[in-house]
Amino acid sequence: MPAGLKQKDPILEIQEFDPKTNLKLRNWFLKEKRDLPFRKNRTPYSTWVSEIMLQQTRVAAMLPLYEKFMARFPKPEDLASAEEEEVFRYWQGLGYYSRAKNLLAGVRKLVNEFRGKFPETLEEALSLPGIGPYTARAILSISYNLPFAVLDGNAKRVLSRLAMFRESGPKADPILQKIADSFLNRDFPGDHNEAVMELGARICIPKPLCTQCPLQTDCIAYQNGVQESIPETEKKKKEIPLDIRFYILKGKQGILLVRYPERRFFKTIYSLPFSFEGKNPYEPDPVLDWDLKTSDLGIKFKHTITHHKIQGFVSETELDAKKEKRILEDFRKARPSIEIKYCHWRDLETEFPSSIAKKIKQTLAKNGAVLPGLEN
Ligand code: ADE
Repeated sequence: MPAGLKQKDPILEIQEFDPKTNLKLRNWFLKEKRDLPFRKNRTPYSTWVSEIMLQQTRVAAMLPLYEKFMARFPKPEDLASAEEEEVFRYWQGLGYYSRAKNLLAGVRKLVNEFRGKFPETLEEALSLPGIGPYTARAILSISYNLPFAVLDGNAKRVLSRLAMFRESGPKADPILQKIADSFLNRDFPGDHNEAVMELGARICIPKPLCTQCPLQTDCIAYQNGVQESIPETEKKKKEIPLDIRFYILKGKQGILLVRYPERRFFKTIYSLPFSFEGKNPYEPDPVLDWDLKTSDLGIKFKHTITHHKIQGFVSETELDAKKEKRILEDFRKARPSIEIKYCHWRDLETEFPSSIAKKIKQTLAKNGAVLPGLEN
């Protein structure tokens, strides 16, 4: 019988873990854990914010933004009463703005329906917008020490190797949750969850650093020399190359920005109008393909959204009153839910809060391009 595991639990069909394994993990965590700002003065709200920011963003990238966010919105009530536009500005650099939108909706519900006090049951926590099983379990365990085991990508990798469980993907998740529940240190659920994730982030990485691992002798994958092939990697989603042209349309009130919720990209934020070009135009734009007589600025930049590898191009034109009237009418006819606003060139990054705005400006500057009417 390998050192880390005791006999099989006949009901769960999951191996039972040796409590000593847990103890080793805890000792390692207490000694080695990173001194991170979101680990200080923790509240359910601060844990909520940090855990949402950590989804899809690395710790180093989220830290400065987390600190600025918490300084501006220290309590749920501060965030709940803020305008979405301002919250988005504080989210700039993190991307995936639907997270900010959902966080705001969730915190507003917390303030209005729970009087700002984070609930203590999984069911109620899950009733808040933007809170899924991972976030609910993380907040309840880390801030209330309730016995819920979390499963994020790092935890899945650690547990799969520890128990030598090969499968991955959605079908494997219920089994991994049982493994996680069985491994949970019920005396210190919050520390335990953070320890598992931290081990996965720093030691039990895809190419694992087993010689530094506190659980080396407990890990069944290591004992069998198969740690690097566990978990089996899911087939990577095929990359889709896309060419997108962004339009700087200058009207009397400034640069035209649009937002419509049915669109594939930038559903939650305003962006420059754009159309798809090239081989994969799965959302041709009925308005922008109309003869606008724009000029191509001759720049090209790269951007990635999930598995879409984007090449961006930029065109611009001045809209006279007649053209502007027509384009606004056409936009509204083609997409009745469209929202339109104008911004100044200097505010483009805040009003179109995607790194694309910055890339457009930087690429233009690098190419020495001059945009009539946009210099100041
Ligand atoms: N990854 C996501 N949340 C984490 C946390 N609280 N500690 C360590 N790694 C994490």
